[in-house]
Amino acid sequence: MGASEKQAREELLRWLRWQVEMGADEAISSHPRDHLQTPRSAERAAPVIPTAGLAAPGGTQSPASRSVSPQDCHTLADIHAALDAMRDFPLRRTARNTVHVDGNPDAKVLFIGEAPGRDEDLRGKPFVGRAGQLLDRMLAAIGLDRHAEEPERAALITNVLFWRPPGNRPPTEAELSFCAPWVMRTIEIVNPRVIVTLGGPATQRLTGNPHGITRQRGKWTQITVPGLEKPVPLLPMLHPAFLLRTPAQKRLAWRDLLALKLFLEEGRPTA
Ligand code: URA
Repeated sequence: MGASEKQAREELLRWLRWQVEMGADEAISSHPRDHLQTPRSAERAAPVIPTAGLAAPGGTQSPASRSVSPQDCHTLADIHAALDAMRDFPLRRTARNTVHVDGNPDAKVLFIGEAPGRDEDLRGKPFVGRAGQLLDRMLAAIGLDRHAEEPERAALITNVLFWRPPGNRPPTEAELSFCAPWVMRTIEIVNPRVIVTLGGPATQRLTGNPHGITRQRGKWTQITVPGLEKPVPLLPMLHPAFLLRTPAQKRLAWRDLLALKLFLEEGRPTA
């Protein structure tokens, strides 16, 4: 390789690295495309991608999931299998894995975040990247561990969206509406004593309150979940990814963690 070719290659690699850093690390098409083919042969080889009907707000299902509804699912494993089978849902097509829950299903506390990122997509589990590591340290600070055997010391973790949006773009309203009935069924099956929402999108989605997370965090509320007898207490908290970017806000997160700890000890909100 000549010096100028080497330079051009390095330039291209720098450009590619920059794109990855900016979050553009996914091919948007669900089918690989061979850019070395001549345009005419590429045209012949182009796959026909079926257009999937996105859910209308209100939770209507896409054609692939029509056969299995959330109410057909009786375990978390049923829900995971149903979600994973939605091969014509656009986000499912671009994701490597369906990311549903991680932790102890008998836990008293259910944490709900926004959407899987790159690490979660690769491993098929929520909150396993840097934000997840901080979340684990936050849990440990109040004596919780997502994998603890005793339900009182354990946690279960999920998101309001079950597939990584390409390039980590924010989820759309239609995508969140599509997942909403599955989130509700997950909560119904787990029947947690308390829910903690992490960040604005999860909080707004679950509470229906449009105010930002800085206004809602630390303020106890409760949500009604179809199929559960009693409303479930809910505590909004700052998202660990936000805390990584703005460590000064960790003191607010600490306050909220202590409120959660007190709740778990006393069985009721204390502030
Ligand atoms: N952020 C989230 O909201 N959820 C994850 O699973 C990971 C990062």
